[in-house]
Amino acid sequence: MPTIEEAREWYADADIVHDFDHVLRVLRTAEYLSEIEGADLEIIQAAALLHDVEGATPDGVNRHDHHHSSADFAAVALKKEGWPEDRISAVLHCILAHRYRDNSNPPSTLEAKILFDADKLDVLGAIGIARVIAYAALAGTPFYAKPSEKFLLTGEEESGEVHSAYHEHLFKLRKVPDRLFTTTAKSLAAERLKILEGFFQQLIKEWEGNI
Ligand SMILES: [Fe+2]
Ligand SMILES: [Fe+2]
Repeated sequence: MPTIEEAREWYADADIVHDFDHVLRVLRTAEYLSEIEGADLEIIQAAALLHDVEGATPDGVNRHDHHHSSADFAAVALKKEGWPEDRISAVLHCILAHRYRDNSNPPSTLEAKILFDADKLDVLGAIGIARVIAYAALAGTPFYAKPSEKFLLTGEEESGEVHSAYHEHLFKLRKVPDRLFTTTAKSLAAERLKILEGFFQQLIKEWEGNI
């Protein structure tokens, strides 16, 4: 098993939204879910430590394909550690299946479902607020812009419409609880979504000058 110190080095260049602090939160949440759901802890730990190892630099290069490149990195790292092929494959499936925006390879094992759930819980709640605002700042987009009718109906922006943090909330974050697999994560997600909803309600109220 790679050590925490080794894994920390892999994320030295990661942006603030996908940095090693995110990985450690995913690791702790995945360990918690694993204990309740009865998953293979070693597979969970390796998958959590390696899931975002590639494609998390601030320039966003390779972000869309980071689940594949991170799996390639994981295969080499775990082989070097002497892991058997079948257990490496189990970790690779977790990593390949964790990307929210890619439905082509959905999680088919309990461990992959738990990694998916733990990773997505980190976009909700107080941490979710901090991350979505940080992401907007990194991308140079506003925290809030009034969404167009077209965006509200279809999820697609009108030409020239910016994708603000609030757009990301409508497009992805509020739908996350419905995509989770384990009952434990679903109930945590419902609580955390309320925090996010409350934040954006208050943000819009203050933005529009409704004192
Ligand atoms: Fe990821
Ligand atoms: Fe992640």
